Amino acid sequence: MTAYMEPNSPKVKLTPPFEWLHDHIQIIDQTCLPEELKLLKINDSESAVQAIKRLAIRGAPALGAFGALAVVVGLDEAKSANREDAEARLSELRVLIGDARPTAVNLRWAVDRVINFGLKSAGGVAEIRESILAEAHRVASEDMDACAAIGLFGAELLNGLEKIGTHCNAGRLATAGIGTALAPFYTRKKAGKPISAFAAETRPLLQGARLTAWELQEAGINVTVVPDGAMASIILSNHLDAFIVGADRIASNGDSANKIGTVSHALAAKEAGIPFYVAAPTSTIDFSIETGTEIEIEQRSPTEVHAVNGQRSTPPGVSALNPAFDVTPSRLITAIITEVGVLLPPYKDSITDAIKLAGKQK
Ligand code: MRU
Repeated sequence: MTAYMEPNSPKVKLTPPFEWLHDHIQIIDQTCLPEELKLLKINDSESAVQAIKRLAIRGAPALGAFGALAVVVGLDEAKSANREDAEARLSELRVLIGDARPTAVNLRWAVDRVINFGLKSAGGVAEIRESILAEAHRVASEDMDACAAIGLFGAELLNGLEKIGTHCNAGRLATAGIGTALAPFYTRKKAGKPISAFAAETRPLLQGARLTAWELQEAGINVTVVPDGAMASIILSNHLDAFIVGADRIASNGDSANKIGTVSHALAAKEAGIPFYVAAPTSTIDFSIETGTEIEIEQRSPTEVHAVNGQRSTPPGVSALNPAFDVTPSRLITAIITEVGVLLPPYKDSITDAIKLAGKQK
């Protein structure tokens, strides 16, 4: 396996956000974009966990696929002498990697999936390692297929709509494929249909301004960056036809956690009467929880809020809050676009059907 993404690239081969290279993972350090396309070699569990925590690799589906591969790296590092040692190491990695970030359910789901699969294999350390690696590749290639399907379903929904808002980065940098929320953009562009993106800049780490603008521009898609605080007024002045975001965790009732700031756009979209879509693979659905109130929201360091581009912007001594995600209530969501179809309210029913269809009864 080499690269995962890119069926739509209009240019030369794009660098994938993560890639398995024989005995290690190579990632794009997304903290350096757009200034620098810096590649990092991940060959131990500590660097994998740090890459996740500081958002060098990020986005729920990419975290899942990367976390799955990171289990292999962490197992190799331990050089376990026998099966018993390998099992003990996998128990450590389940926590170390699976809990590196709490909100995106794909990370926990994928780490558990590959470890449980590996433990089922008979034989010694080499057999366990081989089956974990094979399953990790399946996690990634399933995500690539899911992105392509979301792109087709989403592109259909956007027929007749051209100016589309989005938040944070739910594109190729956040997945193993062409993205979730951005997949319909790539699909429509490829089909020669008109489409332009309005990307909320996404304070405090600017994933919209830095990453979404970078990857859409690279793909030749027209993109305009909008300050987070300006988006509601742009929506209310009828400037956008629809809004589409990704998700980090979706509850059984459709409540969807996504990057902080998302719910403000959903409220404005409701008020303006434009559709507000959530696009995510079924691996982002957490069927074990009923509503969004049960979703753990990651609280990140206040230092991310205190500084803009490394320059302190708040007076010393002032405190800051930095929740990384918010939850958009399902009543504000027009439809959830998954790889098995477009889910409509009531979500409790459509999500139950989708989970069955995807064969992912949890
Ligand atoms: O903190 P991040 O950058 O990992 O957050 C990612 C998001 O919230 C994305 O916008 C998203 O929609 C989920 S990943 C496709």
